[in-house]
Amino acid sequence: MVLTVKLGARSYPITFERGVLGRIGEHVNLDRKVMIVTDDGVPAQYAQQLLAQCPQGFVHTVHMGEGAKSFPVFEALCTALLEHGFTRRDLVIGLGGGVVGDLSGFAAASFMRGIDFVGIPTTTLSQIDSSVGGKMAINLAGVKNIIGAFHQPRAVFIDGDVLKTLPPRHFSNGLAEAVKMGFIADPEIIRLFEADDWRSHLDEIIYRAIAAKARVVEIDETEQNERKSLNFGHTIGHGIESAGQLSDLYHGECVGLGMLYFFGDEALRARCERILDKLGLPTHTEVDKDAVYAALTHDKKGDGTAVSVVKVDEVGGYRLEKMRYDDIRALL
Ligand SMILES: NC(=O)c1ccc[n+]([C@@H]2O[C@H](COP(=O)([O-])OP(=O)(O)OC[C@H]3O[C@@H](n4cnc5c(N)ncnc54)[C@H](O)[C@@H]3O)[C@@H](O)[C@H]2O)c1
Ligand SMILES: [Zn+2]
Repeated sequence: MVLTVKLGARSYPITFERGVLGRIGEHVNLDRKVMIVTDDGVPAQYAQQLLAQCPQGFVHTVHMGEGAKSFPVFEALCTALLEHGFTRRDLVIGLGGGVVGDLSGFAAASFMRGIDFVGIPTTTLSQIDSSVGGKMAINLAGVKNIIGAFHQPRAVFIDGDVLKTLPPRHFSNGLAEAVKMGFIADPEIIRLFEADDWRSHLDEIIYRAIAAKARVVEIDETEQNERKSLNFGHTIGHGIESAGQLSDLYHGECVGLGMLYFFGDEALRARCERILDKLGLPTHTEVDKDAVYAALTHDKKGDGTAVSVVKVDEVGGYRLEKMRYDDIRALL
């Protein structure tokens, strides 16, 4: 199955196919220099499978974790591109989770002012959230994603088979973003999660979540308005994520918790809670409320007294609302 993200000259296909990792050469020209970027937590056989398809391929493996989204690691990757004589005709492939995608995508965006990039996301989070949008970034001085670019990939490949090796907590973590897409844009996703055999619908859930995000990004590529809906669950979620660094909650887990504050009625909130619970995602946290509040008021969004939040009153729809920080405090 192929979904085209329609962005004029920057349009690109997302191919959904189990086992496609072994057939990338049928879709993309690999007969040029190819830098396969991955991390040491991604099973090495995936990079080897890809390398076998590249007559002039190189594998660049970084150490796993958010620390890879940094200037030293970025510099080492760009240096490797330079030393291997990459030109604007050549290709960078990001093979890994969101960390690898962001780092390698930003290197592709920057090297020689932009060379081809192909994404092969291998976590639920990166498949659902990072494969659409073209946002590539690294961190600086403890601030996440502060140095980056919009750089649309030439193609993205979603291979459900690679998720088999993903640790269960990471597997559930990314699905929180699919729950989010369901509540703001696609009731069918919620229905599938509520089914007893939801796992057998995983491919469809991921496809629908990506398709829903693509529709939003097509309308609003650079985040002027429509794209703000994607922040559902993220206002308080980011606060919990920053405040909870010691408790070590993952991003999707925080987004799940963050959504629970912004439902128009109790029945919907309870539905969301049941889904999160079923996915093994937390529905409450011990993180200190004052610390969450302090963290979210430090967030770069908003004008100091109020922030725009996303609310859901019915499944598949949302509204944006200006909310005073005082009122958010009361919510907590
Ligand atoms: N660009 C965007 O639009 C966007 C969107 C959302 C998140 N992000 C970024 O994504 C990052 C988080 O991504 P993530 O949750 O994928 O984390 P991650 O990239 O750190 O991957 C999680 C862990 O899983 C391992 N792994 C990856 N694929 C695997 C597989 N198939 N089998 C076994 N292990 C595997 C990795 O080595 C890593 O240890 C954050 O830095 C976030 O800012 C970017
Ligand atoms: Zn998110």
